[in-house]
Amino acid sequence: MNIPFVTLNNGIQMPQLGLGLYAPKQQDEVKQSVLDALDLGIRLIDSAAIYANEKEVGQGIIESGVTRTDLFVTSKVWMEDMGYDSTLRAFDKTLSDLGLEYLDLYLIHWPKDTARKETWKALETLYDQKLCRSIGVSNYYKKHLEELFLHANICPAVNQFELSPFCYMPDEFAFNQENDIQVEGYAPLVRGWKKDDEVLNEIAAHYGKSTYQLLVRWNIELGAVTIPKSVKRARIQENMEVFDFCISPEDMQKLSQLYDNTRVAWDPRDF
Ligand SMILES: NC(=O)c1ccc[n+]([C@@H]2O[C@H](COP(=O)([O-])OP(=O)(O)OC[C@H]3O[C@@H](n4cnc5c(N)ncnc54)[C@H](OP(=O)(O)O)[C@@H]3O)[C@@H](O)[C@H]2O)c1
Repeated sequence: MNIPFVTLNNGIQMPQLGLGLYAPKQQDEVKQSVLDALDLGIRLIDSAAIYANEKEVGQGIIESGVTRTDLFVTSKVWMEDMGYDSTLRAFDKTLSDLGLEYLDLYLIHWPKDTARKETWKALETLYDQKLCRSIGVSNYYKKHLEELFLHANICPAVNQFELSPFCYMPDEFAFNQENDIQVEGYAPLVRGWKKDDEVLNEIAAHYGKSTYQLLVRWNIELGAVTIPKSVKRARIQENMEVFDFCISPEDMQKLSQLYDNTRVAWDPRDF
């Protein structure tokens, strides 16, 4: 299964589909899911300090034997660690837990109202020191990005936010594209909450795909990077089998009308 790459605004390549790792009660299954995903051909790993499983993720990476330069490993600084020095410390812990010497992408996890500026400065330092190949943000909407543009020396390469037809806001998506920031969509499967949706089922059946595959492909059609999470090998494989069909413009239109602001995480507009 060949997963395409997108090129970030600093020229580095990022796989368009990866493995999500938010599994707070499933730490013992995380290492195996990393091993399975890497064995199946996934190379993008979406980690975060708050998931409290970076040691397991690191063990999976090491045991897989995959060459480091073939991997694209992301992590995120959590809200309580925001600030210049505390972000640098949090980054050190993440690197040590993962057992890595550098990250491919480090993100500010949420735009907490204080310390956004200092935290971005810390990420710029890590980038300058070549400890991160790219830096970005998560859950930043237009108002947060506009604030960041006022003080940033480096434009974020990636903005990771929740993305499914049920919470798709075309203006927010377009603002990232206009500013050359790659959108990475999380919770593409809406954690299965919408699996019985009639429109989803009707369109998925038309393509001979599951509703999960349809939702992953919807992210790909938009040009987003997507990181469906599963700790089950068969599901990881199912969620990857999305490069042998395209969703027609008419069906994309129908799917985009499903917006009802269903979100698995907080709404960034509240930050
Ligand atoms: N930046 C942020 O603030 C933020 C917030 C949330 C998530 N994320 C990232 O995005 C990733 C994905 O989001 P998410 O984990 O919240 O939700 P998701 O990927 O939309 O859904 C994951 C859920 O769907 C189940 N599942 C996966 N594939 C399935 C399939 N083919 N059939 C049936 N069920 C399936 C999984 O269960 P099993 O594991 O049991 O298969 C899990 O319960 C996270 O893991 C994390 O890396 C980032």
